[in-house]
Order: sequence, then C-alpha cells, then structure tokens
Amino acid sequence: MTSPTLTLRGITRSFPGVVANDHVDLDVHAGEVHAVVGENGAGKSTLVKILYGFYRADAGEIRLDGAPVTIGAPEDARALGIGMVFQDLVQVPALTVAENIALFLPDLPAVLGRAALARRIATTSEQYGLAIDPRAPVWRLSVGERQKVEIVKLLLARARVLVFDEPTRSLAPHEVAGLLDVLATLKRDGRAVVFIAHKLSEVLAVADRITVMRRGRVVGSLSRAEATESALVALMFDDTTTGERTRRPPPPGSEAPLPGAAPALELRGVSVRAEAHGCGLADVDLTVAPGELVGVAGVSGNGQRELGDVILGLVAAAAGRKWLWGDDATRWSVARVRASGVVFVPDDALGLAAVPQLSAVENAVLGDRRRYARAGGLAVDWAAARADLTRAFARLGFPVPSLDAPVGTLSGGTVQRAVLARELTHGPRLIVALDPARGLDARSTAATCRALLAAREAGAAVLLISEDLDELCALADRLVVLFGGRIVGAGRPADFAVETIGHLMTGSLPVAARG
Ligand SMILES: Nc1ncnc2c1ncn2[C@@H]1O[C@H](COP(=O)(O)OP(=O)(O)OP(=O)(O)O)[C@@H](O)[C@H]1O
Ligand SMILES: [Mg+2]
Repeated sequence: MTSPTLTLRGITRSFPGVVANDHVDLDVHAGEVHAVVGENGAGKSTLVKILYGFYRADAGEIRLDGAPVTIGAPEDARALGIGMVFQDLVQVPALTVAENIALFLPDLPAVLGRAALARRIATTSEQYGLAIDPRAPVWRLSVGERQKVEIVKLLLARARVLVFDEPTRSLAPHEVAGLLDVLATLKRDGRAVVFIAHKLSEVLAVADRITVMRRGRVVGSLSRAEATESALVALMFDDTTTGERTRRPPPPGSEAPLPGAAPALELRGVSVRAEAHGCGLADVDLTVAPGELVGVAGVSGNGQRELGDVILGLVAAAAGRKWLWGDDATRWSVARVRASGVVFVPDDALGLAAVPQLSAVENAVLGDRRRYARAGGLAVDWAAARADLTRAFARLGFPVPSLDAPVGTLSGGTVQRAVLARELTHGPRLIVALDPARGLDARSTAATCRALLAAREAGAAVLLISEDLDELCALADRLVVLFGGRIVGAGRPADFAVETIGHLMTGSLPVAARG
C-alpha cells in the first residue's frame, strides 16, 4: 500500500467540560474516500475543523505526504491543498458562479481574463460531471448546484485533500446520488476525500475505509470489505439496537376520528405567494385529525417551508382559510397559534429555533416565558426550566448535553435534539415537524420517530413533512405529496407504490388525487 497523503496522529482538543477529540489517528490515502461516522457529538466536525485550521489542536500532529505541517488558519490549509465543503455554503448570491469562484482564487483574475476563467470552470465541471453554468447568478441555484460550485472552486484551487462535512444533509434525494458520483470521480482522479455522513447507506455506497468515532475517540476503522451496517452501528453505539421506528397498528376502533370531532388542523384552498427562494402554495386542502399522523412527501423547495410557516402563522395566506380545532385561525398571530398547542420542529434548528449565543436552558425559557416566570413575571425559575429540559431529554432517550454551553457550540445534531426536547415536552396538541431527524444519528432518529408516534398515541395530531420516504411510509396514517406548491397525490401509504410517490414528488406524473 502507498503511504498516506494525510496523516493525523494523536489529535486532541478539549472544550470546557468535554474532550471533543481524544488522541485521534486518521490516515487518508490518495484515491480513497475515507468516511468518518459516529453519533451526534462524537467529534467529527471538530476533527475536520482542526484539519482546516478553524480550531487549534491541544496536542497531536498533522502530516502531509509524511512531512509535519502547521495549520493555524484556513489560509494555511488552502495553501497546503486542503479544501473543505461547508454545510453553510459561503457564496455571494448576487454574483455569478464565475465571479464567486474568482473571489476565492485571488491569484486568478490577474492572470486569467473572464473568458479564460469561464473556460476553465467549464472544462473542470465537465471533467467531474459537475454541470454548472459559469454565468448563472448564484441566487438562482439550488443547494445542490451551489455545492457543485464549491467543489469546482476547490478543484481549481488544486486541492488534493477534499473534506465534506455532512454534504448530503441539505440535498434532495435525487441530488444525493449525483454527489456520491462526484466523490467517486474525485477518488478515481487520485484525490484524498474525507466524507462525514450519518446515513450508512451513503457511506457504504462510496467509502473505501470507514472510521468510527465515539465520544471523541476512534473506536474502529474498517475497510469497505469488512464494513456492514450492523458492524458500524455496533461500534457507534456500543450496542446494535437503534430501536423500533415502525408504527404499531392502532387499537381497533381508533383508526377513524370521532364523527363530529373537529380536526386539529384544517386548511381549505390555502395559497401563499412565492418568495425569492420558494414556490409558494397553491390551493392546498389538508386536514389532520387528533391522533392522526399525516405525512407530507416531497422534494424540499416544493412548498414544505411555506406549509409549516402558514400553519404556524409566520406568513399570511393570500387566499383560503385555516382552522385549528374548529376555530378560524386564518389571522391568528404566531403567539396565539402556539398558545393553542401547536409546536413546530424546523429542520434548521440553529437558524430558526435557537439563539446560538444562549444556552439550551436559556433557549427553553425564551420559548416559554410564561411557564418559567416567577414573582409576577420578573424573575425566571431556572431550576424548573433545567429540570424540565433534563427530563425531556431523558424521556426522548437522548443523552443530556451541557445545558449551560451556548447552543452555537453544541454539535449540529445536539442542537436539533435540544429543539425537539423543548418542543415535544409539554404535551403538544399539534406537532408540525419539518424533517425533524435531519442531521441526527441513527439512534436519535429512531428515538424521534418513537416520540412522534407516542404523541400521536396520546391523541396529538402530527404533520410530518419529510423527504425520507421510508420514514414517511413507516410512520404515516395518511400521506400527501407536495409538488410545486400543490398537493398532487393523497392516500394511505399502503395504497401507493413507492415509485408512484417518487414520480409525483418529481412532477413526472400528471396530477392524480387531491387530499
Ligand atoms: N466551539 C466549541 N465550544 C465548545 N464546545 C464545542 C465547540 N465545538 C464543539 N464542541 C463540543 O465538542 C463535542 C463534539 O462536537 P462535534 O461538533 O465535533 O460533533 P459531531 O460529531 O460533528 O456531531 P454531529 O453529528 O451532531 O454534527 C460536542 O460535545 C460539542 O458540544
Ligand atoms: Mg458535526
């Protein structure tokens, strides 16, 4: 075997109260995709941030082609040919693809004219199957296309080591396959690729070697031939149980809502105007009964966010009406909607539901001022908030994180868990969940599914909006398919062939039923 391009030895980094990386060793060879997996908070992002010069290691050594290097800042990493594709893509929306790339390559514009740069972008993107138009303004691109721009940027900067931290997290299902192909092409081209992901199917599809981290340590490193899903899960969690996540059949007689009982949620003819990045909603009819879990299938960007927003009252319906438990709630404020028992679990917890500078306890109090008010509302009952949150984590089967650290310093999945714990804890009557398991490890995903089913069993109405068809089919009593802001199909999961749902999701079938 050749000697590794990149060698990490004894990488150690502590944060207050946690050893995020504990003597981590990692070898990445040219022509190899090396996956790093592990539960939420295991230390994966910390490791690659050290490699890219975002964090300094307390101890340990990084070697490139066998020679020790010092990486004190991202510029150092880039100069050494190490590139990183971030979760939050750093691009200027108003500029074109070519202009964004030129910004990243400061030595380029002097040497190359616009036309030459466009040519190089075109050649490189063609070579790697990254179809992008250099002249397109970035704001018009989907997340998947913007990710391609990032990769082309790194290739033009001659990166030899490419690091991807959960690149598939924000991609639509049909874009995931494309990205995995790109990783395979990069490796054939002799680059060294580090790939962090939670979905083991993605990892097994593309990785040559898989390193498993748990609580800051490397607990195993398997070649692709040795790796199976169960072997990886056993290493990740200490045991192989990720738990039941399929719904049990409901008790007899509980299937249909009581005649005459008002639905928890009813939308009739609801339309929402399209904003710059969405498609709006057109004439949506939807009901969710108490004790019912309705799944909304669709590729993101087809009205999912608007649907959540209009239910919560964040945006006003341009047409149509909304009822909550029989009351006309079309013009209710967000506060009133929430006070009636509606909770919202967004897919981007940090962006939408948590203040990064505040701790998990402070965020919980912020979300529910009245509950924790003492002495006429002036003081806050911190002890109660802390106890509630600890209980909520335990009930969901999530490990309790540091409740005092700013949530911006928690791992991605841990923030999502904190929002779930906060939202699901006080007996919600209607749960609107937008890809609630995005970024969660396998065990937390299963725990989240169980929590949604338990809420439904306890009589709550649940609207689960997700791109994960398997998850939807396993959990939902009823399914609707959203495409282009319209409901293009509806029925019980058993009545749909999975391919039919797929076709409806991508608009390749004519409008079928409405629900
Ligand atoms: N800047 C920071 N300040 C304090 N603690 C931090 C900081 N960055 C990370 N940590 C802590 O280090 C640990 C590892 O976090 P990291 O983000 O590396 O996990 P991860 O494996 O990427 O998890 P996930 O799958 O949820 O993204 C966590 O306990 C996290 O709270
Ligand atoms: Mg991470």
